[in-house]
Amino acid sequence: MARTIPEFTAIKKTGRKISMLTAYDFPTARLVDEAGIDAILVGDSLGMVVQGKANTLPVTLEEMIYHTEIVARASRNALVIADLPFPGGHDSWVGTLRDCTQLMKRTNCHGVKMETSFQQEEMIARMVEAGIPILAHIGLLPQKIQTFGKYSMQRVRDELMRDALAVQKAGAFGVVMECVDHEIAREISLELEIPTIGIGSGPYCDGQILVLQDILGLSGRTPKHAKQYANLHSLILGACEAYRKDVEEGNFPEK
Ligand code: KIV
Repeated sequence: MARTIPEFTAIKKTGRKISMLTAYDFPTARLVDEAGIDAILVGDSLGMVVQGKANTLPVTLEEMIYHTEIVARASRNALVIADLPFPGGHDSWVGTLRDCTQLMKRTNCHGVKMETSFQQEEMIARMVEAGIPILAHIGLLPQKIQTFGKYSMQRVRDELMRDALAVQKAGAFGVVMECVDHEIAREISLELEIPTIGIGSGPYCDGQILVLQDILGLSGRTPKHAKQYANLHSLILGACEAYRKDVEEGNFPEK
């Protein structure tokens, strides 16, 4: 378990794989923490899995602050990382610093995740210099879905390697790689000193992250890269139906 950012980064040297999950509310963050997960990401995926929106673009800074504060209060051991919402990291560095500072000051999180490329090298360096630990995110960038056009595998080796090296040079403490071809993900993981955290990027990354609702069977459909570990959809549906039936038939409450 990692209690500090340096401890998180140091896990790579031990050879143990790093576990990360998303969470957005108190009861599930408590459970994720209790399960011994290294770090919880309060992802802007909350736009889809909590708010029912089509993508992550509408999520606001205030919403991220609201959910991250709740998760950070629930987590006793796991690191808590807040996502910088769209168009995070593309404001001036003063504007980005203001947003990251709000996330850190008002939520008690340990660091901020930013969707990046080599173009954010200076931005990341400025945030790190100010004391904001940055988890970079490369590969498929959901905040650029309108530009990408679709959620697809990223296979341009030289560009991905360039992005990974740039964010490491800038001082990121780790890098999430989303939908990166697994051979390229392996090469990057071997090349970098900071840990790589994969999602849809194969088994060779230094750690893995998944969206909690996907592993619990609560997101409607399990994406190809995820694994469903429980079917809460049918459990919750069954409980609600049983309650409705009890109420309709006068079996609840009992005398
Ligand atoms: O928003 C999110 O949950 C993420 C992860 C899927 C990496 O960015």
